[in-house]
Amino acid sequence: MSEIRNEPGQTPFDKLGGRDAVKALVERFYDAMEEHEPTLAALHQRDEHGRVSREARDRFALFLVGWLGGPQDYMLLHGHPRLRMRHARVPVDSAMRDAWTRSMKIAMEASGVTGALREFLETRFAELADFLRNTPDAPATGGART
Ligand code: HEM
Repeated sequence: MSEIRNEPGQTPFDKLGGRDAVKALVERFYDAMEEHEPTLAALHQRDEHGRVSREARDRFALFLVGWLGGPQDYMLLHGHPRLRMRHARVPVDSAMRDAWTRSMKIAMEASGVTGALREFLETRFAELADFLRNTPDAPATGGART
């Protein structure tokens, strides 16, 4: 992981391939979410075709560009991300955290993200997704005797 540094030309944003590569990753992320994680997809704004909306996709892409070390356009347009605050209205439990990271893994696989960069991003995304949990898990019902 020591290869990934926040120096010009060395940021995860640069290593991914810049803005177009981040946008492609985000499209693959929401496409994977729609295909494999309907409960998570249903939490998002939808367009007239039932797809996760262009606005939701573009906002996340703009955020990710900055978070990965690229231009800070999201902060300029929307202010500090304050992700926990912006997810306060979204019920994030362990199931949704895991659905989110599964979708991102599929997207990174489809985008050909490998090696140290893949390891670094998987770790960072998992940490942040866990940090965003704001709802206790439903008690397990399997095997309970009444
Ligand atoms: C852990 C599970 C997560 C769930 C269930 C979740 C769900 C959501 C939902 C439902 C929205 C609103 C989209 C809309 O308006 O339609 C949203 C927005 C957003 N999410 Fe997440 N998210 C999760 C994790 C993350 C992670 C790990 C990141 C960062 C890497 C992230 C970054 C964002 C951003 C930047 C927005 C847009 C905020 C704004 O500008 O209003 N989310 N998320």
